[in-house]
This record gives sequence, structure tokens and C-alpha cells, in this order.
Amino acid sequence: MKVAIGCDHIVTDIKNHIKEYLENRGFEVVDCGTYDFERTHYPIYGKRVAEKVVTKEVDLGVVLCGTGVGITNAVQKVKGARCALVGDVAAAVYAKEELNCNIIGVGGRVSGIGMIEDIMDAYFAAEYKPTDENKELINKIDNLIDRTDYIGDDHFFDEFLEKWDRGEYHD
Ligand code: RB5
Repeated sequence: MKVAIGCDHIVTDIKNHIKEYLENRGFEVVDCGTYDFERTHYPIYGKRVAEKVVTKEVDLGVVLCGTGVGITNAVQKVKGARCALVGDVAAAVYAKEELNCNIIGVGGRVSGIGMIEDIMDAYFAAEYKPTDENKELINKIDNLIDRTDYIGDDHFFDEFLEKWDRGEYHD
């Protein structure tokens, strides 16, 4: 499996560690930078990773910044990217199994290195489990990116809320 990885200058050392961690487990890792600790801007590296994923140059992506918040926000702006900011194993598994997230984000300053390694193991081992419900949800999420006519539309989720009221969702 081919994986793109990117980070900002705050967590370059953590990025390097995770790159090596993944390589030791047989992944081919494309390092999209940043490569040192000189101040830079995380959207650059989020965009690079996301573009490699959505153009299928790589299979999946990993992004890191201090909290993970900034870079995951940047990633989400690239059409076709579905990124989850993850701080524990349960969320990593959910991201892949339920939402088929093609990029995972972690906060190198806020999650311990052991947790980040466990998150990597869990995310890459998990497989998307398609259901009619999650396929519909993913489609809805993807359409949010494509469309602007939902802005101000208070009824955009009515169909889903009605299903919720009817007890069609499991949680
Ligand atoms: C530094 O740019 C810091 O803001 C960044 O690493 C990250 O924590 C943002 O979410």
C-alpha cells in the first residue's frame, strides 16, 4: 500500500518517526513535507497529501500538525478528500469502517507517540464496511463539498432527521 504523509514544522520529527514506523510495516510512504522545523503553513502540506490521494497517486494519506486541527481542515477543502482528525483507536476504526475516510489526521503535540502508532495500526488494519446507510451518508457528505445551494437551507438534513425519528439509525 502506498501512503502520502504530510505535516507542518511543529511535528516534523513525529512525521519522520511515523513515516519510518509505516515503512517498517511494509508501506511505501511518499513524504510530502515539510522536511525541517522552519516555520511554514500547514495548508500547503494538507493540500499536497489530499491531492495525491484523490488523484489515486497513493492509496491513503496521513497528516499531522500540532493539534491536527489546522491541517485536517485544510485537507477537507480538497474535493474527494474525506479526512478524520483522530485521537484514539476507536475513532480511527470508525473513520475507516463507517466513513471510508481516505486520510487520517493526528495531533503530534497532543497525542502521545504510542497512541499515534496504535492509531496507524488500527486505521490501516480496518476496512470500510459498506452499508446502505453509510453509503448514503458518505454521498451526502461528498455533496456538501460539491454544492453551495445548501447554505441557508435549514431543511437540508430533513430526510435524515425523519429517518432518525422513525428509529432507522442504530445510534
Ligand atoms: C502551528 O502552526 C500550529 O497552529 C499547528 O501546528 C496546529 O496545531 C494547528 O492546528
